[in-house]
Amino acid sequence: MTGDTCQTQERRARIVSCGASLPTRVLSNRDLARTVDTTDEWIVERTGIRERRVAAPGELASDLAASAASKALESAGMAGRDLALIVVGTISADQRLPSAAIQVQQKIGATCPAFDLAAACSGFLYGLDVATRFVLTGTRPVLVVGVEVLSRLLDWTDRETCVLFGDGAGAAIVDLAEDGRTGVLATLLAADGRHAGLLQIPADEGVVRMRGQEIFRLAVSEMAAACSEVLRRAGLAPGEVGLVVAHQANRRILEAVARRIGIPWERFHLTIDRYGNTSSASIPIGLADALETGRLVPGTAVLMAALGAGATWAASVCRF
Ligand code: ACO
Repeated sequence: MTGDTCQTQERRARIVSCGASLPTRVLSNRDLARTVDTTDEWIVERTGIRERRVAAPGELASDLAASAASKALESAGMAGRDLALIVVGTISADQRLPSAAIQVQQKIGATCPAFDLAAACSGFLYGLDVATRFVLTGTRPVLVVGVEVLSRLLDWTDRETCVLFGDGAGAAIVDLAEDGRTGVLATLLAADGRHAGLLQIPADEGVVRMRGQEIFRLAVSEMAAACSEVLRRAGLAPGEVGLVVAHQANRRILEAVARRIGIPWERFHLTIDRYGNTSSASIPIGLADALETGRLVPGTAVLMAALGAGATWAASVCRF
């Protein structure tokens, strides 16, 4: 069920830069309480979410993805034509064909191969591992994007799901680390299709259906185990992790993971209060936010972890 990349040799792939793009429209808990039977207090206490962003009519996943990608490219001093590969983690592309990655290629002026990757909330970390392997075999730099416009795939009358999710995009440029110190130290990917029924978009309904408590428990146990295992493979103790940028599904999931893996809660970087669960976009949005606010500085060992529909899950540790 699991696969891994453990880069013990000096040549490593590294995340060179990140960018994020969020729709401007804010939907607060109080806004939601006007249309479904919920309260701001319940949502904040049970999830940690205060508000989320919702794409405007006509605002496409590929628009958000291209905007996040452009910011990451600019920060790396690169242009779209410099890219050797584009991988977009998403389950909410603009349309079924062509892929979101192809739309992004056109919008950022790239000419390289491009494909989508469907691993739900683990999409960015799955994409990071794909990028790592391409970079190490000479195809570089690689753009990895996580983007979702889940607002178009929700049942807005179902209070158990519609309060959780938000729209957004995050992007990272992955290239070769030349210094022998920075880079992806280890990554672990996992999947177990026995949990397929916990979170799905049934073909006949077209909206998210979820067994919340079961996925909550699975997220705590598997994310915690994956974090401990990936740290072991990277040869790092929990105390050496400077920042945790984990998938933002529920603040209580992250608090439970923190207790299990023995990393102080203060080291967890949170965006869930502002953006809710943006699925594959939540980790790169968190990275971009931590870089922009100065919380993520060169030399920091960053632990990332996610679990989502499938179930798929993943963890990675990178030194910036
Ligand atoms: N507002 C008010 N009440 C609500 C709401 C709401 N939005 N949603 C559920 N409730 C009610 C329930 O109906 C239930 O009422 P009852 O006791 O009268 O039956 C009560 O609140 C408690 O419901 P629980 O399901 O026990 O609430 P819980 O504390 O488990 O929280 C939640 C529910 C937030 C969905 C939680 O289980 C969760 O976050 N699960 C993970 C889901 C998730 O993140 N999915 C995303 C993809 S997977 C991932 O990203 C990890």
